[in-house]
Amino acid sequence: MTGATPPYTEQRFIEDIREAFAAGKDARVQAQTIADRMRELFATGWPETSERFGKAAGSYTIHADADRGHPDPGFMVMVYRQGPQKAGVPSPHDHGTCFVVYGVAAGSNVQARYRWSYPEDTTQPPVLEEGPGGRPGPWGGRLLPPRRDPTAPQGSTTEATVYVRVTSQNLDDVWRHRYHLGDNKSSVFRSATQMPKA
Ligand SMILES: [Fe+2]
Repeated sequence: MTGATPPYTEQRFIEDIREAFAAGKDARVQAQTIADRMRELFATGWPETSERFGKAAGSYTIHADADRGHPDPGFMVMVYRQGPQKAGVPSPHDHGTCFVVYGVAAGSNVQARYRWSYPEDTTQPPVLEEGPGGRPGPWGGRLLPPRRDPTAPQGSTTEATVYVRVTSQNLDDVWRHRYHLGDNKSSVFRSATQMPKA
């Protein structure tokens, strides 16, 4: 038997991400490369096949890199399993200087996106307005570019969901913002493992 292509593996996925960060500092190129490889890995049945992923609901760290990241330090690969979620009040957040490549392997997740609206009256602060939403499906990754378009995730309210986040750095080390739409205020937080409450 010759010519059989070996299946893509979690280990190679991590190696390819390390190479993407080593090859250049353009976040768009890095993120697109990661999304393309994630799509390829999904096709093999990952992340259910991962030895690091469990059957219980929760967050699982697949990889925390020591020294490769957007402009350093280390990226993380996280997988989440959750049951049906309550519909929440949107609380958009950003990712600081990080980007997140986000993929849904089962179930669904809606990422409502927001845009800044700047009033002509310069005595008034800008406000966030909801933009077009997105519905990443089981087909592959969804990109959340750096410092653009705050988002508010909402997991499926009817079915179990498995999703992946590759963060370009360890978000425990990155200050970012949560926006409160009701009073147009924001707060800062740091967390690598927890999704902000929807
Ligand atoms: Fe996020």
